[in-house]
Amino acid sequence: MITPSSAPLITLDSATDEPYYRQIYGRLRSAVAAGMLRPGDRIPSARALAAELGLARGTVETAYSLLAAEGYVEARGQAGTVIAAGLPARAPNAPGKPGPIIAQAVAAAPRYPILPEDGHAEPRGPRPFQMGIPALDAFPRKIWARLAARAARATQAVDMLYPSPAGLMALRVEVARYLQLSRGLDCRPEQVFITSGYRDSLNLITRTLLKPGDKVWVEDPGYAPTGALLREAGMQLVGVPVDAEGMQVEHGLQHAARARAAVVTPAHQSPTCVALSLPRRLALLEWAARQQGWIVEDDYDGEYRYVSRPLPALKSLDRDDRVLYAGTFSKVLFPAIRLAYLVVPRSQVQRFEDSARLFSGGAPALMQHIVADFMAEGHFARHIQRMRRLYAQRRTLTIAGLEAVLKAHVRIDSPPGGMHLLLRLQGRRSDRVLAEKMRQHGMFSRALSECLLAPRPGVAPMIMLSFTNIDSRRQAGELGRRILALLEPS
Ligand SMILES: Cc1ncc(COP(=O)(O)O)c(C=O)c1O
Repeated sequence: MITPSSAPLITLDSATDEPYYRQIYGRLRSAVAAGMLRPGDRIPSARALAAELGLARGTVETAYSLLAAEGYVEARGQAGTVIAAGLPARAPNAPGKPGPIIAQAVAAAPRYPILPEDGHAEPRGPRPFQMGIPALDAFPRKIWARLAARAARATQAVDMLYPSPAGLMALRVEVARYLQLSRGLDCRPEQVFITSGYRDSLNLITRTLLKPGDKVWVEDPGYAPTGALLREAGMQLVGVPVDAEGMQVEHGLQHAARARAAVVTPAHQSPTCVALSLPRRLALLEWAARQQGWIVEDDYDGEYRYVSRPLPALKSLDRDDRVLYAGTFSKVLFPAIRLAYLVVPRSQVQRFEDSARLFSGGAPALMQHIVADFMAEGHFARHIQRMRRLYAQRRTLTIAGLEAVLKAHVRIDSPPGGMHLLLRLQGRRSDRVLAEKMRQHGMFSRALSECLLAPRPGVAPMIMLSFTNIDSRRQAGELGRRILALLEPS
């Protein structure tokens, strides 16, 4: 490095005819023009840079005097040489218009109802009712900070190499143990692949087991990113309606029995929160065994059930090894952690190892170490238990606060699990209009109709609101009044 605080290393090209002083001059000038070096940034002394590059000091001084003559740098005595103050500051990597190739790709991509709140926008803090965000105020930050500091201190040279694309073995062991104990899954650590989120897991599945043109059953209504991702990967989506018992497997059998895969959220269907009934679970497993198809179980928040013990995962019933189990740390820890896991059938471990080597960059090793320690020392299990109790309370107080204000206008379903409530709008109101208005007024809301693959008449208007970050009945009541002000007459 030429100085710790400013320019990256300058490299020179000995194969060109351009003299070295012109190359140094050109590199620094381009760095200023690109905003990589900004007014006030120090550049190395001529002596230091000459030593670094193995050149005579005079060569560097010639470059610097050219830059000074053109007003790019100024000498500040003891403070060294800095980029001149009068130059316009330009943020590096300032978001500009997309280049023509990206713009074309964006224009050509089909439009899916994925909202900025689904991620990818720069976070501005959780909005009231924001879905999928755990109770951030209740996260054990002190413990986390202690483990993080310890893991950072313990970093050895071996921890600084490329991480295994399948994940850190210590974490895979912890995940296998946790799934065995809490979700009834009989899996070995080698079957567990650590990914950087559900999308990464799903990508790995499509790359490994499916091919473009394959038919895939998806829940309708469902989780928009699942459909969008599969479609982008060239799959043919088969929307399978959902009722009080979850995905209507019979419908899938009638309309596309020869599909290659089905993606389901059995614990709490996303977004309706219903659990997939046992007969439907068995029917789905039977279909997959007969068809040699695959079932992707998206168990994004299966830990949170308030009326009884969490339901065992669908994978725990999987005698024929047809289920791929996708879990995430986003809901039980926090989403910024960007860690998830995928349990693959024993027969497919080698294929997934090959694809992970090709398609996965591997998740950051330090974060995996921290999570593995958090689990091994029992904090993970304790945290989930605490959150279960907290969410049960927050669910109750949010319902009470909202009902007190909105009783005449909505009916609130209190699902047995999950992290959100469903508000059924009374009268002939549009859930989409209300959800849009709430988003415009700084709240979060998702309409059921926004989660459908295609518009479907007759679907009851409903909005979904998360309760996990609402900590008092008064707060829920105040938010209820903000919703009331947005309700148009029915
Ligand atoms: C249905 C569903 N699946 C999976 C996920 C997890 O995604 P990730 O691991 O990227 O946080 C979510 C998050 O909101 C979800 O709602």
